[in-house]
Amino acid sequence: MAESTLRGRRIVVGVTGGIAAYKACDLVSTLVKAEADVQVVMTENARRFVGEITFAALTGNPVSCDLWAPRADVHHVALADFADVVIIAPATANIIGKYANGIADDLLSTALLTFTCPVIIAPAMNSRMLASAAVQANLEALAERGARIVEPEEGWLACGEVGAGRLPDTGVLVAAIEEALRSRGGPLSGLRVLVTAGPTREPIDPVRFISNPSSGRMGYAVAAEAERRGASVTLVSGPVSLEPPLGVEVVAVTSAAEMHEAVEAYAGEVDLFVGAAAVADWRPAEASGEKLSKDGRDEMTVRMVRTPDVIASVARWEPRPVIVGFAAETRDVVANAAEKLRRKGMDLIVANDVGQPGAGFGGETNKVTLVDVIGRETDLPLMSKAAVAAALLDRAGELIASRESQ
Ligand code: PMT
Repeated sequence: MAESTLRGRRIVVGVTGGIAAYKACDLVSTLVKAEADVQVVMTENARRFVGEITFAALTGNPVSCDLWAPRADVHHVALADFADVVIIAPATANIIGKYANGIADDLLSTALLTFTCPVIIAPAMNSRMLASAAVQANLEALAERGARIVEPEEGWLACGEVGAGRLPDTGVLVAAIEEALRSRGGPLSGLRVLVTAGPTREPIDPVRFISNPSSGRMGYAVAAEAERRGASVTLVSGPVSLEPPLGVEVVAVTSAAEMHEAVEAYAGEVDLFVGAAAVADWRPAEASGEKLSKDGRDEMTVRMVRTPDVIASVARWEPRPVIVGFAAETRDVVANAAEKLRRKGMDLIVANDVGQPGAGFGGETNKVTLVDVIGRETDLPLMSKAAVAAALLDRAGELIASRESQ
């Protein structure tokens, strides 16, 4: 099993009322071991076969059964926002019929109508039920609308008959989930995106360093949004206290030199590079191996030398990705940013007025102007860093598309 495909993925497992519901425990346990974030939704009938406590214990998440349970959000919509992929295992004739005909009379059937991510149906039932014209027509209708149907296996069935209708083993179900995740689409599907985020630390001695107040939020928002749009994302991050975005590979670094080296490891392998990190421009020429003593000193001089310019190096890669940089500026924001765009060989720069309240380092919001290589300027209002990430990726997507059409 390719654990990296499942790590951090948000999977909704719908369990309906058939004897094979017990097999869903093994499926859920396998997904959790592969570090997926799993939410189980059970129907009333499924609870006759397996207890919700079993799934709650396996997933560490509450198990949802009731459409009417009091919550702050709208539960079936929240499930759709959460899910990268949904699997109904086992899927009874009843849930298949409801889904195919748009009937929404409990939490699972209602949620099924809100999901926009891939939905996998793993039918399990008596072989004559499975072969019935009604079930076959419903399965065909669902497959035509894009649902992925896992073929039931032949064998001994709980009713004592032998035939088609068994829920396949966990390995088959997991393979279907992985396949759905790999091909789930999105505007950046199939693209490789490399993002830098956070500050760097340049050591003076083992207990002191030069750094800046970057929290990493801006770069993490870009990485999370690129992943949501279907890209395969690597985030090279300076020291921050943020959770890694789901589904994103994170490479932790400390200094500018380490960030440069980590980024260079991907030379020629990415389609889009976004440099949101606040990389130190200077570092102490020598970092003392021992803590520097202040005894007998009233002042100290630290000689500084330049750090490697990460983004300028990326601009020399062959093939060269589309390059998006940021410019943290306090005056002549757009003009200075446009000059940096030309000097460092970028395609798009996010001019960041870090002097404005609510913009720049640390907070949840930012105020930016997008300036691209042909001089187009888009001044955006104060907005969340997630919204800035979305606007930036919209424009980067256009640049990638126009490059591909040349
Ligand atoms: O992390 P947050 O708290 O959310 O704050 C977000 C942010 C303010 C850090 C972010 O929005 C931002 O503006 N990042 C770039 C900050 C910066 O270093 O700007 P700059 O003008 O010094 O650098 C220009 C570009 O060159 C940047 O893309 C930077 O990543 C890159 N650079 C800079 C120096 C260097 N040695 N190598 C680089 O690649």
